[in-house]
Amino acid sequence: LFASVELAPRDPILGLNEQFNADTNPAKVNLGVGVYTDENGKLPLLACVAAAEKQLVDAHKARGYLPIDGIAAYDKAVQGLVFGADSDVVTQGRVATIQALGGTGGLKVGADFLKRLRPDAKVLISDPSWENHRALFTNAGFAVEQYPYYDAATRGVAFDAMIAKLAASPAGTIVVLHACCHNPTGVDLSSEQWDKVIATIKQHGLVPFVDMAYQGFGFGIAEDGAAVRQFLAAGLDFFVSTSFSKSFSLYGERVGALSVVCSSKDEASRVLSQLKIVIRTNYSNPPTHGAQIVATVLTTPALRAQWEGELAGMRERIKRMRGALVDQLTNAGVKGDLSYIVKQNGMFSYSGLSATQMQRLRSEFGVYGVDSGRICVAALNDGNLAYVAKAIAAVSA
Ligand code: LMR
Repeated sequence: LFASVELAPRDPILGLNEQFNADTNPAKVNLGVGVYTDENGKLPLLACVAAAEKQLVDAHKARGYLPIDGIAAYDKAVQGLVFGADSDVVTQGRVATIQALGGTGGLKVGADFLKRLRPDAKVLISDPSWENHRALFTNAGFAVEQYPYYDAATRGVAFDAMIAKLAASPAGTIVVLHACCHNPTGVDLSSEQWDKVIATIKQHGLVPFVDMAYQGFGFGIAEDGAAVRQFLAAGLDFFVSTSFSKSFSLYGERVGALSVVCSSKDEASRVLSQLKIVIRTNYSNPPTHGAQIVATVLTTPALRAQWEGELAGMRERIKRMRGALVDQLTNAGVKGDLSYIVKQNGMFSYSGLSATQMQRLRSEFGVYGVDSGRICVAALNDGNLAYVAKAIAAVSA
């Protein structure tokens, strides 16, 4: 039966963890996967999460099946966070939200639903994009193409080329956009650029799918959600996937969501009924624990305030590490304008290093980053920074 099965390549991001774990170099540093570690190099358990978890454990509740679309209070809290609890779309019941298995799960439920709705549509992702965007939409049955995004010469957005590609795409084309903290480049659209992108999408009848995996890691919760509000203001129907993996440091709990903004309450309930079929036929219904934690934190004012403080702490530490990386690279002899490192947003820096250089970082120094040149700044700390900078200097020389 399995004689003809080929060995698949490792996942370009999660596969690095496997390689990292097997590496015996005592100095090894994992800057591959997008995971925040604190100043001691440890994955944090947020205090707000620990407090909510204690409440849940103390309550000793039995675990029945959740509704197919998840915990109602969780879905409502997601809507409040993403769209604003008082926004028209929420108060009018025009958003269909489901609890998903992480942001990836939200993307896949959306992709499977879209495949039924628009079987012949093409999907456009940014060039470059998160490696799994292409794989996920391809596996959902779509032909996936790219729109120009990153301009290596300016380390900014190739904006005119991006708009030209969107404007030349047939109506119904699905466009995957990063709400904030673009993965892998850390280069985001300005508010004016978002307006132009949204106007182009509207004019050409494209279908926006906004991936918001890093809300709170750029400038703040509201600031990072600004693009979603601009989509709302334009009156478009669109998709938003949400992840709490990073913002709650709940990676392994797989807590995310998918929200679909519709034109009417009736439409939203029909869309929700279809999303439920996708879920039921994949994994039946979602797990309880992580979503209960997130719902408890988001709906308890004191815990919510604590969460916002802890999230701000992570965001600010990453920004400090960006500045420190520039200093250490300069000390290590790396020449040229490094200011791009502090201008990029979110967990990643797009270093411009080639795949060969990234492979040398791994094999010679045990410093793991993605072959695209992406390094996770959120995993730098005062203890590993000088070593990483020296390694980068060595492969850059
Ligand atoms: C990343 O880009 O490293 C994260 O989003 C983790 C993942 O699932 O790839």
